[in-house]
Amino acid sequence: MPILTIKATGKTVEAAEGISILQALLAAGEAIAHKCEGKAECGSCHIFVLEGRKNLSKIQRLENEKLDTIVGVGSGSRLACQAKLGTENITVELLNA
Ligand code: FES
Repeated sequence: MPILTIKATGKTVEAAEGISILQALLAAGEAIAHKCEGKAECGSCHIFVLEGRKNLSKIQRLENEKLDTIVGVGSGSRLACQAKLGTENITVELLNA
């Protein structure tokens, strides 16, 4: 079961493989914006993945197109609603918390 660590607070969350980072964060009670409810349309769930990026689901076209419209995107950028957890631990930085 992957462990999700949230940078800054250092909070760790045990999450199920295959769920999105957004689902894991919301289940843990984290305040993360998700205006389109996970459809890759709003970009409000943009996060930085600091560790474990390669173990997440690959970026698909919809996510890629939305990321292209967001200011401040970096190499670790993902939409939390689209990135699904694999088996390894990851560390994320929330931008709108
Ligand atoms: S919740 Fe809207 S893009 Fe992720």
